Amino acid sequence: MYRYAQKLHHLLWSLLLLALITATNAHAAEKIDLIIDTDPGADDVVALLFALASPEELNIRALTTVAGNVRLDKTSRNARLAREWAGREEVPVYAGAPKPMMRTPIYAENIHGKEGLSGVVVHEPKKGLDEGNAVNYLIDTLKSAKPHSITIAILGPQTNLALALIQAPEIVQGIKEVVIMGGAHFNGGNITPVAEFNLFADPHAAQVVLKSGVKLTYLPLDVTHKILTSEARLKQIAALNNNAGKLVGNILNEYVKGDMEHYGIPGGPVHDATVIAYLLKPELFTGRSVNVVVDSREGPTFGQTIVDWYDCLNAPKNAFWVESGDAQGFFDLLTQRLARLK
Ligand code: BDR
Ligand code: CA
Repeated sequence: MYRYAQKLHHLLWSLLLLALITATNAHAAEKIDLIIDTDPGADDVVALLFALASPEELNIRALTTVAGNVRLDKTSRNARLAREWAGREEVPVYAGAPKPMMRTPIYAENIHGKEGLSGVVVHEPKKGLDEGNAVNYLIDTLKSAKPHSITIAILGPQTNLALALIQAPEIVQGIKEVVIMGGAHFNGGNITPVAEFNLFADPHAAQVVLKSGVKLTYLPLDVTHKILTSEARLKQIAALNNNAGKLVGNILNEYVKGDMEHYGIPGGPVHDATVIAYLLKPELFTGRSVNVVVDSREGPTFGQTIVDWYDCLNAPKNAFWVESGDAQGFFDLLTQRLARLK
């Protein structure tokens, strides 16, 4: 009888252990395999720190950089700085396109500062760029990836992915989803009356990505202009009392000034960081599947995203357009993640 009870006990423990291992594996399998394509940029750096502080959910395969807010050498340095500040030097950084596909380059130094990073002093990071080009990295990685397994977050002009898609259209097989900060519909533009900066900086690239048939999610100005800093929200970040909190506090304090003044709003948006929040907690956001095209004709609507919100055209839905989000939920999540960094 005693031996029978002992055996049963043993069996129960084995089953429990097995259940635990299975649960752990299932959790690991849920991680998002992620490449972040970026042009840091003040809000890009906040987004990168946010993402790099979230290893439980995000398996960041690489950061790929593009010219946008500032020149490529500076965006690449700033991406490496974010990696260093987050203590995540094992994540490779590959530099990509030094200019847009067709149009003349534009920069946003007036918003992000000469170095592309307002509010903090920059230095040359200890670790350099990884060898190889971002476009080739995207092609090689996506070609050999498991079908529809990799998510790409694009926080700047979409030049790198567009060039990769043109050179090797078969890479769509590796893409699970592309989540983009860009575009504007209800809000109006921030670089022209109708265009948002990332789309205006390279509309031809955005067009290639839109036509590629990959699953797309857009976080446009419509949502980012609803998720604004406030004194209390900046205080909650400053209260973290770690280096990451100090950095983000200093960056944002400076970065939001321009938008607050220009739009007469009580706080500023942290555009690119909303992409990371969307990946971590999509339930904070709402939107709908729509047909989107981008205007690349010279003229006043250059770079405008035309969104068929009310399905007037009955055209195929090629993107999920995020329109609203929980602002306090966003800042709570950001603060919670930054708390994990040094
Ligand atoms: C976008 O433009 C850039 O200046 C920001 O980094 C963000 O990606 C907002 O329009
Ligand atoms: Ca950006």
